[in-house]
This record gives sequence, C-alpha cells and structure tokens, in this order.
Amino acid sequence: MRLVIGALVVIACLYDVSADVCSYSCLKSRRYSTSCGWFGWSRCTRYSSYRGTCTRTCRNGGWSSYTETGSRTPCSATCGTGTQIRTLSRSCTNPSPYNGGRVCSGSSSKVEVMECNPQPCPINGNWSDFTEWEEYDDCTVICGTGTMDQWRSRTCTNPSPAFGGSDCTGVSLENRTIECNTELCGEKCPNDTVTYFDHPENNRRYYQCDNNVARRHDCAPGTVWNNTQHTCIHEAIPMPAAPVHSTPPPDDFCSNGRILAAHPTDCSKYYMCSNGRRVGNAMSCPGGLVFSQSRSSCDFPYNVPEC
Ligand SMILES: *[C@@H]1O[C@H](CO)[C@@H](O)[C@H](O)[C@H]1NC(C)=O
Ligand SMILES: *[C@@H]1O[C@H](CO)[C@@H](O)[C@H](O)[C@H]1NC(C)=O
Ligand SMILES: *[C@@H]1O[C@H](CO)[C@@H](O)[C@H](O)[C@H]1NC(C)=O
Ligand SMILES: *[C@@H]1O[C@H](CO)[C@@H](O)[C@H](O)[C@H]1NC(C)=O
Repeated sequence: MRLVIGALVVIACLYDVSADVCSYSCLKSRRYSTSCGWFGWSRCTRYSSYRGTCTRTCRNGGWSSYTETGSRTPCSATCGTGTQIRTLSRSCTNPSPYNGGRVCSGSSSKVEVMECNPQPCPINGNWSDFTEWEEYDDCTVICGTGTMDQWRSRTCTNPSPAFGGSDCTGVSLENRTIECNTELCGEKCPNDTVTYFDHPENNRRYYQCDNNVARRHDCAPGTVWNNTQHTCIHEAIPMPAAPVHSTPPPDDFCSNGRILAAHPTDCSKYYMCSNGRRVGNAMSCPGGLVFSQSRSSCDFPYNVPEC
C-alpha cells in the first residue's frame, strides 16, 4: 500500500508590465510526494514528482513617431510672419503590445501652431534726417553784408525701400543763400580809397575794400596773393631770367630795384622783375583796375593820373 501525500504549491505568480520590458515570472511550483512502505517510515522516499516554471515574456506597446496628417490651415498673414495649424498623428505600433503587454497611453494625435512666412512685406523708403548746412564757399565779403550759399542733403535710407516698397518722394538736396558778415566795415574800408586784406586761410584769395564793403576775390590760376605788393603774384619761384623772345623792354623797364613794373603801353598790365630784368609775361590787374607804379599795386584809375 502506498500513501501518497501530494501538495501542489504555487507560491506566487507575479507579473510586471510597468517596466519597459514586460515579463511574467512565476515562482516554482512543486508537488511533493511521499511514498512509504507499510512497515516503518524509514523506508519512505521523498521526491519531487513535478517541477515547473511559468515564465513568459510579453511586450508593452510603444508609440511611433509623429507624422503630419491632413492639410494645414491657411497662413494667417499674406506677408510677413503668420501662423497656421497642422495635425500630427502617431500609432501604438513601435512596438505593438504583445502577449498581454501594456497598450500605449495618451492621445494618438495633436495639433501644432506653426510660423509661416509666405513672403516679406514691402518696406517703403523713408528719408534720413537732413545733414547740417554746409557752405559751398566763404562769405562773399569780410564785412559790410555779403551772401553765402549753403546746402544740406538727406538719403532714402531710414529705411531703404525693400521688397517692392515705394521710394522716397521729394528732394535729397536743398540749397539756401544766407546773409553773412553783416557788420559794417567802418574804418577798415574808408570811402573813395581801395584797401586790401589777405584771406586768413586761403592765399589764393584776397579782399578788396571799396565803399564800405570788403569783397572777396580770387587770384588768377597759378598765382597767390601778396599782401605787401597788393597783388596776386606767380606762385612758383620765378625761373632765372628766361630769354625774352619778344621785343626787349627799355633799359629802365625793371630798373630802380623794382619788383613790379608797369606795362609801357597797357595801363591794366604790369610785369614782375628780378635782378633788373622782367620775368615772364605781362599780368593783368583785376576788374577795371590799373597798375600804379608809385604804389606798386593795382588801383582805381582815378588814383593813377598817368593812365
Ligand atoms: C520717417 O522717419 C522719421 C524720422 O525717423 C519718422 O519720424 C517718421 O515717422 C518716418 N515715417 C515713416 C512713414 O516711417
Ligand atoms: C544747389 O546748388 C548747386 C551749386 O550752386 C547746384 O549745382 C545745384 O543744382 C543746386 N541744387 C538745387 C536742388 O537747387
Ligand atoms: C562813406 O559813404 C557812405 C555812403 O556812401 C556814408 O554813409 C558814410 O558816411 C561815408 N563815410 C565816411 C567816413 O565818409
Ligand atoms: C610779398 O612781396 C614782398 C615784396 O616783394 C616779399 O618780400 C614777400 O616775401 C612776399 N610775400 C610772400 C608771402 O610771397
């Protein structure tokens, strides 16, 4: 006779799908059997008649990446930066749940607001501020009221036109004429006498004072003002007496240590002298003046009786 005592012990079967890797694991189950002979327990043998496990694997589902589905809404702006909406979808196939694994949680679609910029908006040009007034030239007089031309400019760069925007309208350059040096000349410019002033910065210019106004004048090209001689003289150091091809002047033409000598026949002209000989060609007095040998400068005709 056999006494069979059997026990099926299934201790626990746990399964865990919360982890990324899903698995079931069961602890061992055993059936114990004890078989004994009729006479005495000492002959009992004990053995395990069954021994099993119950592990199995499963797989949780995973989302695929989003893909855009359907069409976007139109851009909210026709130029410049606007917005539009698109729809994105995903599926629980990466991987699909398997063998009791967890299905994906959450929504399978979402919407996104996108920036859209079909084309830049036109930018109309706008003027910059005008520059400060600048003079074209010095005042026309040094005293006694003269005029001065001035200009100022602006550019279409505030901003510059772009993307089909309009250009600026109006002028980019403005001129004006203002009065200058309006103070009276007073004793500087006595009536009925011609006096001269040199220009403070430009030796190619001088001021001639007449009837209470000291007007600006330019020396002829290649000459500079000499305030001692009261005339414009050649700028370069005179060449050593060049051979004179025209009719030689009279012996006394440049004598007496003269620096300037009157032209023998033309009152408005004079010569430069060096070492008793004339240098270069005849030079002309400015507007309407004649050469005065006694003052060694150009002067009004009524101050030069010999003319
Ligand atoms: C042009 O620029 C001036 C100076 O910056 C500004 O005052 C003015 O509003 C601008 N005009 C336009 C149309 O942008
Ligand atoms: C401004 O004056 C200058 C010099 O006199 C001249 O060349 C220019 O044409 C003038 N411009 C205007 C817009 O009057
Ligand atoms: C010079 O002439 C002006 C007008 O031609 C006259 O007003 C002024 O008094 C005169 N000056 C002298 C010092 O004669
Ligand atoms: C002007 O002329 C005088 C007399 O000839 C001379 O002594 C002087 O050096 C000259 N001045 C200039 C700046 O040329």
